[in-house]
Amino acid sequence: MEKHQTHNVLKADYADPKVDQLLKHTVRNQLESLLKAKLTTAQRQQALTQSFVNAMALTLGTTVATHAQLTAAFEAMYDQAVQSMSMAELSEELLTRQYISPTGLVMSPYNCRHTIKDIYRIQGYARGIDKAIRGMLSHKDSITILYPACGPFAPLLLPLLSYYKDQNEFNHEQIKVLFVDTHPGAIVTLRQLINDLQLGEFVADIIEEDATVYEPQESIDLLVLEAMQHGFTREGQLAIAKHLVKFLTLDGWMIPRSVSIKGMMVHGETEFNQQWKDTQYCHSDNLNNSALQERIELGELMRIDKSVLLKMEEIELEDDIRVVAANRVTLPTGFEDMPARILAVYAQINTFDDEGLDQYDSGITHPRPDMNFYVDAQPKELEHTHFVANSGDTVQFYYQLSGMPGFVPVKV
Ligand SMILES: C[S@@+](CC[C@H](N)C(=O)[O-])C[C@H]1O[C@@H](n2cnc3c(N)ncnc32)[C@H](O)[C@@H]1O
Repeated sequence: MEKHQTHNVLKADYADPKVDQLLKHTVRNQLESLLKAKLTTAQRQQALTQSFVNAMALTLGTTVATHAQLTAAFEAMYDQAVQSMSMAELSEELLTRQYISPTGLVMSPYNCRHTIKDIYRIQGYARGIDKAIRGMLSHKDSITILYPACGPFAPLLLPLLSYYKDQNEFNHEQIKVLFVDTHPGAIVTLRQLINDLQLGEFVADIIEEDATVYEPQESIDLLVLEAMQHGFTREGQLAIAKHLVKFLTLDGWMIPRSVSIKGMMVHGETEFNQQWKDTQYCHSDNLNNSALQERIELGELMRIDKSVLLKMEEIELEDDIRVVAANRVTLPTGFEDMPARILAVYAQINTFDDEGLDQYDSGITHPRPDMNFYVDAQPKELEHTHFVANSGDTVQFYYQLSGMPGFVPVKV
């Protein structure tokens, strides 16, 4: 019989909506635990492993799975992972602590737990990582993978490793993984999950450290990284990638191979509302043609890949603010409706080979409206965060690495 998760929520905290929500979650968790308590540990671990294997079988399979099949498989994987998380018995503090580090937002394990059901993000990464691993192991006996900011569930690798083990594809003599996360709650949860999945043999180490300062002792063949939010803001993807790319072997690969961040001027109502009215879910396959034609694409604001990262130079400003130069864009002329448009920034990610994620496939590639960017229009009140330009102006974009990461446009 397994222990149930019991969180100590102070009575005085009940009025706080965040804690209230958490409480509902923990009550449900406890009830679910009671139901599942009928299962032995071995049965629960078996169900967990099976859900991970099933999700990967659909993800990697040669026949295309439907959205409904994928949703069911990923929900099952999520439910099982949350069940394992509840067995880790994190304190309220460890479960919910969220803060800004010197290089971006560090999300709480509680908020991170959803990333394991972000279907097309995991699909784009898992298919790419699978091809990269197969490619490397075709000419090497063994590889070391580094997975920084892996979060409590390390969802870009643990399902894949479960699948390899189940299918007797690759073993621990061929693949070793270094997991890094700065949040102690993520580390405790991850240890529980790896133990429950019986994947310990693949672990080279689990390290609780900030990935922007961590220095691996061994050389790295594959660097797997996803610490992004939409519009390429808030989380420390660039700072982490820039620091860790140095530890890749000469022929080592970073996954994603490239991230292209693009800007466009859109009518918010068409882009974010009308376009999706009759679709079942947001995905690049469901983009609407007339909405696409209404956009004014500005082009690439920044591209990130191994060679760009190795050459990238930081500029240091006052108060330890660090930025890197991104691209220059000339704002197009001749659009009368420009004042009514807003800037939206989106990512296209190539994980490996022809695998990846396009705009709208995941929260991380979803276009992000930037309400501070005005073209041919004046904000009612000018604040220091507002950027005002005219059609025909050339804009130099910088990317701020420290504090809250994000783009800073400057008129040339
Ligand atoms: C959204 S979660 C998990 C993301 C995970 N890569 C995935 O694919 O689902 C983000 C995690 O990144 C971790 N993190 C953020 N910044 C970090 C940093 N500088 N060093 C190490 N971990 C970091 C947080 O602690 C959190 O557990």
